Amino acid sequence: MKVTVFGIGYVGLVQAAVLAEVGHDVMCIDVDEHKIENLKKGNIPIFEPGLAPLVKQNYEGGRLHFTTDAKLGIAHGTIQFIAVGTPPDEHGSADLQYVTAVARTIAEHMTDRKVVVNKSTVPVGTANKVCQVMATTLEKHGSNVPFDVVSNPEFLKEGAAVADCMRPERIVIGSDNESKEVIEPIRELYEPFNRNHDRMIIMDIRSAELTKYAANCMLATKISFMNEMSNLAEMLGADIEKVRQGIGSDSRIGYHFIYPGCGYGGSCFPKDVQALIRAAEHIGYQPKLLQAVEQVNYKQKYKLNRLISDYFGEDLKGKTFSLWGLAFKPNTDDMREASSRVLMEQLWQDGAAVQAYDPEAMHEVRRIYGQRDDLKVMDTKEAALQGADALVICTEWQSFRAPDFDIIKGALKQPVIFDGRNLFDPERLKNRGFTYYAIGRGSSIKTVI
Ligand SMILES: NC(=O)c1ccc[n+]([C@@H]2O[C@H](COP(=O)([O-])OP(=O)(O)OC[C@H]3O[C@@H](n4cnc5c(N)ncnc54)[C@H](O)[C@@H]3O)[C@@H](O)[C@H]2O)c1
Repeated sequence: MKVTVFGIGYVGLVQAAVLAEVGHDVMCIDVDEHKIENLKKGNIPIFEPGLAPLVKQNYEGGRLHFTTDAKLGIAHGTIQFIAVGTPPDEHGSADLQYVTAVARTIAEHMTDRKVVVNKSTVPVGTANKVCQVMATTLEKHGSNVPFDVVSNPEFLKEGAAVADCMRPERIVIGSDNESKEVIEPIRELYEPFNRNHDRMIIMDIRSAELTKYAANCMLATKISFMNEMSNLAEMLGADIEKVRQGIGSDSRIGYHFIYPGCGYGGSCFPKDVQALIRAAEHIGYQPKLLQAVEQVNYKQKYKLNRLISDYFGEDLKGKTFSLWGLAFKPNTDDMREASSRVLMEQLWQDGAAVQAYDPEAMHEVRRIYGQRDDLKVMDTKEAALQGADALVICTEWQSFRAPDFDIIKGALKQPVIFDGRNLFDPERLKNRGFTYYAIGRGSSIKTVI
């Protein structure tokens, strides 16, 4: 099938590559000329496991095309995906300017029937807005070309995006028009991913739009809940890791997504929780649980800074911290809303310097912060340790899980570790002579009531 994808970011590029891989003919459109030129040269703008070869093979195979020419792109596909960003506006609501801009562009150039499929995470009612924008634009151009708008929220996880798109757990389709004309092309498009059993869940558009927010808010709630429990565990002299296993063994709770840590980040949870809060407030509903989820997370992102100040004092002038992990989670280079940013910015404010290492986000930290005296970006995790006062861990990359503790001890001025992801066994580290602060356990257990 011929498909057009607007917005070649984490969602658009992965989805386009995966659709091309199964044989669809996919045209990618982005307004970022630099990105499109680089993609044509084989330079992939983001890191996602397995993505680079997929893009390369399908581009060379002629199933994946890149352009900034909207007219050309719109002529290509019967199905037009919208996968542009929906960042927070100044009030925290989802900013729909990029989504409506694409809707307008499609309507301006379309000459035959299109099914517009929205993959961006958007508030309930956005599909109606897209319909209105398209209808008004078509009318202005004296055109009556028919179109349909469908909601198809994306549930991929950064760091496993290719695998998630290849084997989706569910394909949610929201449509207020369940006629064959609309649903059949979507079924055909996803058929290669739907062979083992039917993963398509078809519902009305508003429910589909809310499903995406509900999913992310549920996951964020689990994280904030566990972080709240970890703070309680710490004060009550319990070990949150034991508690985690104790509750995870209950099949109604399960082990997934109940890891305590130094807060959630990324391009989705923070903005989506905030956007649903704003949407609820807009209709006169106080979403108390979501507000608490956000507040707990905000505070938790400063958790490591609080542990560091408890140990070293408030004034950190002259101190240097080795930081392992910059990306908001492993297997991505994405630093949007990453806990590492809160940590570093607070350390700088307190007068400290940072020696940072991340397996993939080195270019990203340089892009965000540029050259500064209090940030050294190091090539290896070992180099980042040299001469530092302590090691701080913000991201649970595999390569951080079993480090050579003798090297760490030899390189640091004093053997102190602040672990924001609970990677190590506190007892073992104590026996090796480390002072080990983690989340809700280890030496971070201070106040026993
Ligand atoms: N990143 C994720 O893990 C993830 C997962 C599920 C859903 N989502 C949602 O998907 C959407 C996209 O997220 P992302 O992370 O891929 O964003 P992104 O910022 O990585 O990419 C968005 C792209 O859209 C392009 N763009 C903006 N306006 C455009 C226009 N008028 N025409 C063509 N291209 C345009 C930008 O240049 C950019 O390349 C968001 O709504 C997000 O909430 C993201």
